[in-house]
Amino acid sequence: MKILVAITGASGALYAQRLLDNLDPREREIHVVQSHYAQQVIAEELPGGLKLPDGAKLHNLKSMNAPFASGSNPPDAMVVIPCTMGTMGRIAHGYSEDVLLRAADVVLKERKKLILVPRETPLSLVHVKNMELLLQAGATILPANPGFYSGAKTVVALADTIVARVLDHLGIENQLAPRWAEERE
Ligand SMILES: Cc1cc2nc3c(=O)[nH]c(=O)nc-3n(C[C@H](O)[C@H](O)[C@H](O)COP(=O)(O)O)c2cc1C
Repeated sequence: MKILVAITGASGALYAQRLLDNLDPREREIHVVQSHYAQQVIAEELPGGLKLPDGAKLHNLKSMNAPFASGSNPPDAMVVIPCTMGTMGRIAHGYSEDVLLRAADVVLKERKKLILVPRETPLSLVHVKNMELLLQAGATILPANPGFYSGAKTVVALADTIVARVLDHLGIENQLAPRWAEERE
């Protein structure tokens, strides 16, 4: 399985870090691409910067020399985490001027799995209409709205309530966050 993790400049860089912490490049191919503004938000929110797992491949945003720039070599799944309203709008309207946007375009057209983890509040009608269009095109919208019923005691545990759902949608078994009404030992 080949997974592309795309990080954009929305608040919530921790979600991307926790997802990467839970993807093992020895078990599946992990590719990473960051928008320009992702790097600014990472500098604000992740002391020590983003840590890639050994074996993950980081791609240059401005180069189309990546496998997933072409429909002939798409990833099985792409996760945009966190996803800005800007990137969401650009994906919804088919902009493909960098490799992140082009990959999302490829994933949609090749009917692969596109999971978007948007972070914004409140939402405008523009945001909601873009989400509607993306749902119609087959994307999964998995908003960065953590679940408090898990009783998370740390920010990381709260972020993991979202990352666990992303892993579920990727079909990756995980016990990252307690599940509702599950038997606990
Ligand atoms: C610290 C910081 C936090 C931000 N948080 C958000 C956010 O939560 N959601 C959002 O849509 N944009 C947010 N922005 C604005 C985006 O970074 C900005 O619109 C940028 O152009 C998005 O570009 P990108 O989609 O290519 O990453 C934030 C910017 C900064 C500097």
